[in-house]
Amino acid sequence: TSSPITVTLTGAGGQIGYALLFRIAAGELLGPNVTVRLKLLEIPAGIAGAEGAALELQDGAFPLLDSVNVTDSAAAAFDGTNVALLVGSRPRGPGMERADLLAANGAIFGPQGAAINEHAASDIRVVVVGNPANTNALIAQAHAPDVPRERFTALTRLDHNRALGQLSAKLGIPVRDMDGVTIWGNHSATQYPDVSHATAGGTPVRDLVDDAWLANEFIPRVANRGAEIIEVRGSSSVGSAASATVDHVFDWVNGQRGRWTSVALPSDGSYGVPEGLVSSFPAESVDGKWRIVQGLELNAFSTSRIAASVAELATEREQVQGLGLL
Ligand code: NAI
Repeated sequence: TSSPITVTLTGAGGQIGYALLFRIAAGELLGPNVTVRLKLLEIPAGIAGAEGAALELQDGAFPLLDSVNVTDSAAAAFDGTNVALLVGSRPRGPGMERADLLAANGAIFGPQGAAINEHAASDIRVVVVGNPANTNALIAQAHAPDVPRERFTALTRLDHNRALGQLSAKLGIPVRDMDGVTIWGNHSATQYPDVSHATAGGTPVRDLVDDAWLANEFIPRVANRGAEIIEVRGSSSVGSAASATVDHVFDWVNGQRGRWTSVALPSDGSYGVPEGLVSSFPAESVDGKWRIVQGLELNAFSTSRIAASVAELATEREQVQGLGLL
């Protein structure tokens, strides 16, 4: 075992936080030989939930867990942080307009980005899970000018995993035999789950399914899966969201396990996505860094679907700029 890694989790008293904590403590986030110091950030209303989870973590007697601290101070929570999981956010309340939602989250992610800039370790990696995840990540990144911007990511791995699950069910091929699936754009209903470069069991997916299934079933099912889960389960995705967060960080730190994945990160202009927008791309983890998969040919359908989701991201950026949040 090496020296402990400091992991900060916001929203630790909430549902995804509860599911994540036990996976982190079990060593699944970083690897089986890495000890972890956990810092849990909550708002006062969520502190008791986080403290209760901390008691249960103690009862788990996890060999890799060095310590757990609960705080409502961002400065304390991000002190020395190597990995930040930004899960806590402000959900849309009754009658809340999108501008209100963006403003409420700007008030969370701006100060958290500033606290990361000030206090985190120099190798800080950030993943934003709390919605609207891409734009929250953009806001946090904008408040951390001293941190390389590609250290700020947003989670589209859940969408990616959902796409693999749908393909697997349709084709009867295990997810481990699939490669080349991409989620493009925003973690929202406009996202574009793209299988045009995907293979299943070595065969191009485009040879195994027809365009109508892709356009009318696969894409909307993946893009609206969150709503489907709420309808069936009576509650939003929790275990799958925590699992995708673990996958995202594990791959980022430890390198890719043979196939590319999907990550929302500040655009470097690849594929015509305006620079700086936190948009989902196909990406590989190489030497601890995300590298956007380059050189994919995009047909007219893909180009227009990506453009639509990127346009939504651009609108969100204009809105938060208009609110003075960047
Ligand atoms: P939840 O409501 O159970 O928990 C959220 C927690 O965050 C609460 O305990 C709350 O007190 C805390 N919180 C709020 N503001 C905070 C702040 N400023 N600092 C620290 N903690 C704060 O919600 P749940 O189910 O855990 O979901 C969390 C977020 O994840 C939501 O925004 C949800 O929309 C999002 N989500 C994102 C997914 C993705 O794929 N990117 C998938 C599923 C959920």
